[in-house]
Amino acid sequence: MKVLVVGGGGREHALVWKLAQSSKIDKIFCAPGNAGTAQIAENVSLSDGDIAGLLNFAKQNEIGLTVVGPEVPLVEGIVDTFETAGLRIFGPNAKAAILEGSKVFTKELLAKYNIPTAEYQRFTDAADAREYLNTNTTYPIVIKADGLAAGKGVLIISNPEDAEQGIREIMEDRVFGDAGSEIIIEEFLTGPELSMLCFVDSETIVPMVSAKDYKRIGDGDTGLNTGGMGAISPNPLYDQELEDFCLANIIEPTLTGMRQEGRPFKGILYCGIMLTEAGPKVLEYNVRFGDPETQVILPRLDTDLLDVFEAIIDDRLADIDVKWDNQTCATVVLASGGYPEAYPKGLSITGLDQVESSIVFHAGTKLEDGKVLTSGGRVLTVTSKALTVAEALKISYTNIEKIEFDGKTLRSDIGS
Ligand code: AMP
Ligand code: GLY
Repeated sequence: MKVLVVGGGGREHALVWKLAQSSKIDKIFCAPGNAGTAQIAENVSLSDGDIAGLLNFAKQNEIGLTVVGPEVPLVEGIVDTFETAGLRIFGPNAKAAILEGSKVFTKELLAKYNIPTAEYQRFTDAADAREYLNTNTTYPIVIKADGLAAGKGVLIISNPEDAEQGIREIMEDRVFGDAGSEIIIEEFLTGPELSMLCFVDSETIVPMVSAKDYKRIGDGDTGLNTGGMGAISPNPLYDQELEDFCLANIIEPTLTGMRQEGRPFKGILYCGIMLTEAGPKVLEYNVRFGDPETQVILPRLDTDLLDVFEAIIDDRLADIDVKWDNQTCATVVLASGGYPEAYPKGLSITGLDQVESSIVFHAGTKLEDGKVLTSGGRVLTVTSKALTVAEALKISYTNIEKIEFDGKTLRSDIGS
């Protein structure tokens, strides 16, 4: 079978790497891919948002299965387009992907089905949002753009000046475009965070091993929010009791709610949860694998990932025995200098051939004249497996010293 993976980050390199282990796959294409996917797949120069181009490519190349990494094409209906054309594709359709595509939809769903989440108000009018903040607010407070904003649409606000700036930028200046035509203002929650990812078909939920993402750019969880600067699996706070609680009180009622709303979900469901003193509460849903969580979860999967994807599409997930390796896994992200704000591109990366005992998943890299160059904010994720997270991290940090590019930026405290 020929498989097409859509996307070009560390998550997609990990997906390609795992799928390449399947004996049932003859060839993998990755669109657009990166310098890492180019080593094990054939990169296709189509952007992940070019749904018509991807459909055309899949038809012409007799792709047996398309796997979608990022959220934007899912929210924009790539699954619907492929299914209408009679092609097999893994992921939720647009009606179900709204769980990530609209924070307002998700908050209303959570409220309707009594699923624990932060208290919130929704606003389509900037004047109403200002009046609410002037009369009701104790800080900090959280402002969220309704739609997709490349992970940047969540503002933690600690004073009225920043609140004013946030409302102006999102609702009036439209820095995130139409994603800012409505906002949520919600209660600020505190506690450790948990990423809970599940395989989901129409009837069955199979939770994956747990992970913890390190979202801030700086050591000690300081500085700006990023897409994620590292991850470990398992999450040390996770146990069977917590999994059972989150399944029964969060994941199951969400999926039941989606069915009742005529939006049955299948694919990867990623729930961002905060473990507050009042219990676990939903921060957000994503409708795809996390990045960099995927880079620590898939190396622990013993089952053929193709079998899992095919079973989900055919609603046979209950028949699959999803098995995990007991070893732990850790990944450390190497980012460009300046990330998550402006950063240079096209810098030469050296030392990749010196790496031992780690898997280097590429994120923002490209091949030019046989050389690997930086091409994004998060450049590489250096992943290791070992019996303990501390040991896995030691291997990753040792290898990281061998890899160089100008401005190389990383957290030295992943796992803490
Ligand atoms: P989200 O994209 O909704 O996951 O938000 C990104 C990050 O913002 C989360 O991982 C949390 O660290 C933080 N966040 C989101 N909502 C809240 C909240 N209500 N209270 C505190 N932090 C939040
Ligand atoms: N690591 C967070 C995300 O993938 O959304």
